Amino acid sequence: MAKKKLYIARKVPESLIKPFETEFDIRMWENESDPIPRDILLEEVQNADGLLSLMTENIDRTFLQQASHLNIIANMAVGYDNIDVEAAKEYDITITNTPDVLTETTADLTFALLMATARRLMEGSDLIRQNQWGNWSPFGLAGTDIFGKKLGIVGMGRIGEAVARRAAGFNMDVVYYNRRRKEKVERDLGVDYNTFDELIQTSDYIVSLLPMTNETENIFNQHTFAQMKSDAIFINASRGGVVDETALFEALKHKKIQAAGLDVFKDEPIGANHPFVELPNAVLLPHIGSATVATREKMITLALENIAKVFQGEKPKTPVW
Ligand code: GLV
Repeated sequence: MAKKKLYIARKVPESLIKPFETEFDIRMWENESDPIPRDILLEEVQNADGLLSLMTENIDRTFLQQASHLNIIANMAVGYDNIDVEAAKEYDITITNTPDVLTETTADLTFALLMATARRLMEGSDLIRQNQWGNWSPFGLAGTDIFGKKLGIVGMGRIGEAVARRAAGFNMDVVYYNRRRKEKVERDLGVDYNTFDELIQTSDYIVSLLPMTNETENIFNQHTFAQMKSDAIFINASRGGVVDETALFEALKHKKIQAAGLDVFKDEPIGANHPFVELPNAVLLPHIGSATVATREKMITLALENIAKVFQGEKPKTPVW
């Protein structure tokens, strides 16, 4: 039987691909930092049974229509808002993601971002780099406490739970909002359910871990920021699309809220000309939630394992559908 053909949309380490090379014919985009242009990807997948994609690939209906012979698209991310899953169902293309393997790593980053924002770490670091460290002063770079504060997690999935476990070590009072209430999680982690409005009105830290859907788009908007406490700190480690960025910019600029820590943006990548860059009370990171070597390796391997399963006629390990 002819070997199944796999196309990998970004250069990944040879050592991770090797175990699959005897079974499958593998081709790969030979660039690690730049995404493959869409027209080349479409051309490549004409001759493939499976695709390993990243969130930089826009797998929309038009793409799927032209690649409808694919058996599987394995996305190297837990989020899959770059893929039109409904269209994939119509074309009978299996879609998989990479949950679980990145949960703890992403929770670490989320908490690190919260801490960096609360304690103004970037401003402090910049001060030294710009040779501006003056004398010690009573309120020099004075930030906000973390311990004992109220943390509101919006979107209580696996990463939210992992953030809640970290917050317990800081003696935070943790509440959450989720479309579906999770009573077992409440009992296990000692967290309380709040309505969305209650959470945003009363939390000191509001952390978004929401998936990007039609319902969550711009859920953090002018109205939402206006309801937050004036010393609230907003953290987004999910998707930029859940935030109305103009409203957040205004809220930060006019100190309607205290600060924000953002790992994700509506149109990534952003550059130094982005309006947020002028705000000292915004900590900005280039979407690195799951970025540790160990976790990225696990994500690639899981994506490859999902493809292998489907090629072998089995159920993938982590299907989206
Ligand atoms: C990263 O944002 C992911 O969805 O894995």
